[in-house]
Amino acid sequence: MKQPTAAGGTNVGSMKALVYHGPGRKAWEDVPDAAIAEPTDVVVKVDTTTICGTDLHILHGDVAAVTDGRILGHEAVGTVTEVGDAVKGFSPGDRVLVPAITKCGRCEYCQRNMPSHCQTVGGIGWIFGHLIDGTQAEAVRVPYADTSLYAVPGNVTNEQAIFLADSLPTGYEVGVLAGKVRPGDTVAVVGAGAVGLAAILTTGLWGASRVIAVDTNKFRLDKAREFGATDTVEAGDNTTADVLALTDGVGVDVSIEAVGYPETLLTAASLVRPGGTIANIGVHGVPVSLPMQDMWIQNVSLTMGLVDTVSIPTLLKMVASGRIPAEKMGTHSFTFAQLDQAYDVFGNAAENSALKVVITPA
Ligand SMILES: NC(=O)c1ccc[n+]([C@@H]2O[C@H](COP(=O)([O-])OP(=O)(O)OC[C@H]3O[C@@H](n4cnc5c(N)ncnc54)[C@H](O)[C@@H]3O)[C@@H](O)[C@H]2O)c1
Ligand SMILES: [Zn+2]
Ligand SMILES: [Zn+2]
Repeated sequence: MKQPTAAGGTNVGSMKALVYHGPGRKAWEDVPDAAIAEPTDVVVKVDTTTICGTDLHILHGDVAAVTDGRILGHEAVGTVTEVGDAVKGFSPGDRVLVPAITKCGRCEYCQRNMPSHCQTVGGIGWIFGHLIDGTQAEAVRVPYADTSLYAVPGNVTNEQAIFLADSLPTGYEVGVLAGKVRPGDTVAVVGAGAVGLAAILTTGLWGASRVIAVDTNKFRLDKAREFGATDTVEAGDNTTADVLALTDGVGVDVSIEAVGYPETLLTAASLVRPGGTIANIGVHGVPVSLPMQDMWIQNVSLTMGLVDTVSIPTLLKMVASGRIPAEKMGTHSFTFAQLDQAYDVFGNAAENSALKVVITPA
């Protein structure tokens, strides 16, 4: 944090942050304070952050754009401490949600309501902990604050709002909305991690009559019921037959993939009825070969994409009114000093009965 000097000015101080040092290496260490660089920036003191599966991918060295020295993390709830001269909508003291996607509000993609591809900072909306320093830190610089930040309503807690930075909008936008869930639909969700559970939690809002969760992990299937699944299927050799049996043999209207493996996309594709939608959320690392010779005649759609986080205002209202119990996503709490432990628990989530971790300064 900034230290006053004897002369009354300020020195550039230092803060602590989780810094990436190449595959498998990270450290909670001293870095220069987050500071305003552009008039459209604000600095946010991080009060709550979390870890995403993408952070684990980065640590495995899977995301080449993340280089040695980058502060990790792309989700935060915090308090504005400094505002740039051009910022109109936020003031010091405001409690804000820092979403995974930053938007300039002016480029062609922002104007199409698709800030996932905001052209202004590096050509992609996901910049924190990727192209610029991230949120697993005592403070973070937020570019384009007016168009990117969200004020958190007084009756929404930090432990609820933090899951609206990434997981909940992802399950909702890339799963439920892209899949076009409609009243009465049957929906299958393959993969009941944080993102699949977010899809399960929000698909009921569109009146799905049946929500079938498919996972290999029994703890996740129990969670799926808690989050609103009407049926659960343990993934195995009979997954497709088991799901079809629950839908009178015809398949589901919307099949959501929330794992990111070739076999789980193939499973999701095998569950959909003619005219239905396969909504792929998973991040894929290898090519997937789909049985187009069987699929072409089924009139099915396949959707995919990076989350835009434009549903955050809707989701915030739903959390505020009690329709979405977002706090259920958080299963473990840690302090900044325990970040290593938080990564260990999250990295071995299945063995630890963990979903998402909540990380606070102390
Ligand atoms: N498209 C986007 O914008 C976006 C954003 C965030 C995350 N994602 C992706 O969404 C996916 C899910 O994220 P998450 O954080 O929930 O991950 P996660 O690892 O917490 O959950 C994955 C779930 O899949 C289950 N699973 C594993 N193998 C399976 C199988 N063969 N059959 C059925 N279930 C199986 C696991 O038990 C686990 O519950 C990941 O690929 C992630 O990278 C995409
Ligand atoms: Zn993420
Ligand atoms: Zn833009």
